[in-house]
Amino acid sequence: MKYFLSGDSLADASADAVVGFVFEEPNSAAAELWDALTGGLAGELFARGEFKGKLHSTARIHRPAGMQAGQLLLIGCGPQEKFSSVLLRECAGVAGRALRASGARSAAIQARGEDAVRAVVEGFSAALYEPDCYKTGSERSSPTLESATVLAPSAQRGALERAVAAAEGQRFARELANEPGNILPPRVLAERASAMAAQAGLACEILDEGRIRELKMGALLGVAQGSAEPPAIVVLRYRPRGTQDAGGVHLGLVGKAVTFDTGGISIKPSAEMDRMKYDMAGGAAVIGAMQAIAALRPPAPVTAVIPSVENMPGGGAQRPGDVVTTMSGKTVEVLNTDAEGRLILADALTYAQRQGCTHLVDAATLTGAVVVALGYENSGVFTNDAAWQERLLQAAAAAGEKMWPMPLDDAYAALLESPIADMANVGPRWGGAVTAAAFLKHFAAPLPWVHLDIAGTAWYEEQKPYAAKGPSGVGVRTLVALALNAAQPS
Ligand code: BES
Ligand code: MN
Ligand code: ZN
Repeated sequence: MKYFLSGDSLADASADAVVGFVFEEPNSAAAELWDALTGGLAGELFARGEFKGKLHSTARIHRPAGMQAGQLLLIGCGPQEKFSSVLLRECAGVAGRALRASGARSAAIQARGEDAVRAVVEGFSAALYEPDCYKTGSERSSPTLESATVLAPSAQRGALERAVAAAEGQRFARELANEPGNILPPRVLAERASAMAAQAGLACEILDEGRIRELKMGALLGVAQGSAEPPAIVVLRYRPRGTQDAGGVHLGLVGKAVTFDTGGISIKPSAEMDRMKYDMAGGAAVIGAMQAIAALRPPAPVTAVIPSVENMPGGGAQRPGDVVTTMSGKTVEVLNTDAEGRLILADALTYAQRQGCTHLVDAATLTGAVVVALGYENSGVFTNDAAWQERLLQAAAAAGEKMWPMPLDDAYAALLESPIADMANVGPRWGGAVTAAAFLKHFAAPLPWVHLDIAGTAWYEEQKPYAAKGPSGVGVRTLVALALNAAQPS
């Protein structure tokens, strides 16, 4: 799929289909424009109530009288006052899926301004992903779309390049998250990341089990010991060229990559356990973001740490009640082996600190409790530093990813007290997403840190009008936006 810019108008654009965005109850100027482009057909659709601009609705006008293109695809955007960058990405996605189904080879898309160019390209691209890579027959989707031209001036080239890079990173993250546990154990995840790094021009170091042992990452090793698959930690390093001013910022991105989470000895119920192949979506998001960061070359250095294990109940598995010593030296009583994400992240956060990172963000499918709190709509955001969190929330808003701040005051840390070790790995039943974050906080301090719990957002449970059911690639665009702005004083 190729993306181009063109200064053509909607009337002059030559493509199999031109995509136009229409608000519910368009103002008279907009209504006149669509009428002029379609010889009055658009107005007729409105008058008959066949198309009202309702959010995610579509209408096609073939051979529009006032246009070069063979088809005008109208996408309803809902009421103008409720419109947002999230919704523009969705609407571009609705267009992408409609065109992919119609067999169009080329599309031209309306976009006004830098933010719109990014939203349109990112939304359109995201919609074209299908998770059917293991279908062998004719059912497997074979996209016909070859190019999309964004109708915007050439001054938007930077926005287009940024969007394409972010979209490719997001696609890579989804491909990784979609892989089943048998095909993508930690070793293979590391190979995929290192192949990407070689292509993208990133330094990549894989810490194997021996090295992990030397580093005394007892919490991560405790999780890994129940599986026949050895653990691996992927370390990706982006360093800016020359002497750009990074403002003293060295960004550390940490992503949970449990390639399959059975729960270990505290085993999960079998219903829907298959879903736990996406328990590496945080790591995948970080890897995808690093691919885009390598292409976009922000001024601040970025180090990514992706701890990867398989959480299995093998004969050597850790037991509830085991005590492990983390790389930081702190000890943990493992009361529940299914709370494994925080154990591997603890050691990865310590490692990121020792690499000289000044600011940390982690992304993890960490708790079912965050899904109880926020459903499938928003990722949960936790922090020990309000200013750093504000930077992340701004990046998320600009990237069109919905994220919601959650509390994390000291009272939650008290819920993790253990009579035998420095802390337990689980607290009481309620507030589980917050106690999980409170656990991580011990290992992020004293650095400013934000934790993203993406358990509810990393997987679309249902097909969307703008996306296939399956991995969402959430987090990639926010992390890329954050990296691009990290060096700027807040
Ligand atoms: N990977 C799960 C969290 C999860 C749940 C992700 C649902 C995606 C969808 C995590 O490792 C886990 O098992 N968490 C436990 C924690 C509990 C034992 C304190 C949970 O949420 O039940
Ligand atoms: Mn678990
Ligand atoms: Zn897990």
